[in-house]
Amino acid sequence: MKLLQLQKRAMALAGTVMTAYLLFHMLCNLSFFSATAFEQFYAFYNQAWVRWPLLGVVVLSLLIHIKAALHIRIKNSKARQVGYKKHDKLHVPAPLVSLSIVLLLLFILIHIGQTMLIDTSAVKAAMIDWFSSGWMLLFYLAGLFILAMHLQHSLINVLQTLGISSKTYSLAIISTVVFLTLGFASVPLFIWANA
Ligand code: HEM
Repeated sequence: MKLLQLQKRAMALAGTVMTAYLLFHMLCNLSFFSATAFEQFYAFYNQAWVRWPLLGVVVLSLLIHIKAALHIRIKNSKARQVGYKKHDKLHVPAPLVSLSIVLLLLFILIHIGQTMLIDTSAVKAAMIDWFSSGWMLLFYLAGLFILAMHLQHSLINVLQTLGISSKTYSLAIISTVVFLTLGFASVPLFIWANA
């Protein structure tokens, strides 16, 4: 198999692992609305044998995803002599796409950094502390918006690469992305509204 093909597969696989992690993370965060489940879950999650291997898998997937994406981008720009015709309904300029990816990466790194600093025996209190600030709420909503755009675009691309372009699948992807984004956003919005 050609290197480019392998890189595409690695990128899609790493992206799938991260999407699965995101769904898991969002569903676990929804336990915030229960009186005890959130604390119980994070007490389990913060055991060294759970937290660090899981974080290792996420960071490794992120690195594989970025490395493959860069490789594919460089290859494609070398191979393409003439630019693509702009036939998309909504054409987003390439520099804006690059900027959004850098911002998404920054958001993820800042978020992981923040979780490293909290008292892991009081995760619920830490969440309430974070999102009592309107600025923090805005930062997370902006991060979630960029994440939603990235996921929607890339998951549909993966389907097209697999030769699937059905409307049903596209609708399933959009519904999943909306569910994921609203699920994540609900906790900060709830805390901020009740602060
Ligand atoms: C509003 C949305 C989010 C909230 C409230 C939230 C909250 C949290 C909390 C409470 C933890 C665990 C801290 C602990 O170890 O006790 C965590 C960990 C983590 N989150 Fe999020 N998260 C959100 C969105 C995201 C998003 C969108 C991503 C990725 C794109 C993400 C990636 C991670 C990762 C990788 C970890 C593991 C870091 C570690 O173990 O230190 N989170 N998050």
